Amino acid sequence: MLPSEFPIKQVRATYPALADGHAYLDGAAGTQVPTPVIDAIATAYRSGLGNVGGAFPASHRSDAIVGACRAAVADLVGGDARGVILGPNMTTLTYRLSKALAGPGDEVVVSRLDHDANVRPWTQTGATVRWAEVDPVTGELPVEQYADLVNERTRVVAVSAASNILGTRPDVAAIAEIAHAAGALMYVDGVHATPHGPVDMRALGADLYATSAYKWSGPHIGAVIADPALLETLRPDKLASSTDEVPERFETGTSPFADFDGVTAAVDHLAAMVPGTGSRRERLLTSMAAIEAYEQDLFAVLIEGLETMPHVTTYGKPARRTATAYFNVARHTPRQVAEHLAKLGVNVWHGHNYAWELTAALGIRDTGGAVRAGLVHYNDRSDVDRLLEGVARLG
Ligand SMILES: Cc1ncc(COP(=O)(O)O)c(C=O)c1O
Repeated sequence: MLPSEFPIKQVRATYPALADGHAYLDGAAGTQVPTPVIDAIATAYRSGLGNVGGAFPASHRSDAIVGACRAAVADLVGGDARGVILGPNMTTLTYRLSKALAGPGDEVVVSRLDHDANVRPWTQTGATVRWAEVDPVTGELPVEQYADLVNERTRVVAVSAASNILGTRPDVAAIAEIAHAAGALMYVDGVHATPHGPVDMRALGADLYATSAYKWSGPHIGAVIADPALLETLRPDKLASSTDEVPERFETGTSPFADFDGVTAAVDHLAAMVPGTGSRRERLLTSMAAIEAYEQDLFAVLIEGLETMPHVTTYGKPARRTATAYFNVARHTPRQVAEHLAKLGVNVWHGHNYAWELTAALGIRDTGGAVRAGLVHYNDRSDVDRLLEGVARLG
């Protein structure tokens, strides 16, 4: 589908929050939620829910919701529904898995491109840590360095499928080849990447792929998807009384079942965003390709607009990136820029955005980071124009 054919008016109409007139360029920190997701959550609560595994209908409804949610998330990323671990967010799940995957005597490879949620859980395992460096000018994560970082002691290579501030999409598949040749596992942070285009975790070489539904129009739920056979080999901390089944072994406590129904609705919403045929997986691939083309087209306007303003410094120029811009404005702190834009009804984030290592590598962590303006599928040209006009006024 051509970007000009993307049904943006129709898409925007399904997001009630957009009616407040703000330009929501903060999607990288969490998207708004469309009506079918809100309705699915409300309907689940209205119909009566019980804890899973019981003998009565409300419990059976929760069982069905959990199963449907795993199937939906698996479809979104090209994974196996039996290996979908659901939890409160990516950070919590990554801490849980990192403890089960690595420890003293192992080596782990982390990158300075990554959100801290795919760094600290690994550096705190007690394993020896090796660092992949970023080119601070281009914002690229060179693949070649991995040959020197990975060896037979490497247990996990943790890397992001896309940077949450620069948008850089590193060559994860090439890194995975190096990792797998040494017998290491690939833990891929797909939190920022997932909403911006089709995902095939197997093609990426991800043994474990993490994503968060609240970045793609769903509620605040995280998921890690893996081969169930791999999960069978792992022993996370768990209660003696809770099931040892996979993937439930990794899910502590009682789950937010109604929200899980919202996750399924979000996947269905994405799958139906543009006309498509075939299985839900096939329709998702069609929709996500249309979303990617639409966002990239709009982003070309946004980034060119910023890059041509003499009082603006943009960070990174990676060859493959999501529609995410990170920039500073001369004589204004990132917070001041965000406050100025907020007065104009434009929502952007400011600061390090948890890209702790990357903002240090860019030399701006101690000076407040920068401003992040990111596009998702419900942003339109007027959002971009309002951002650019607002930033231009600071010149
Ligand atoms: C790239 C990336 N990884 C990880 C996270 C953490 O995700 P969660 O909030 O689900 O823990 C975020 C959140 O912004 C992110 O953008």
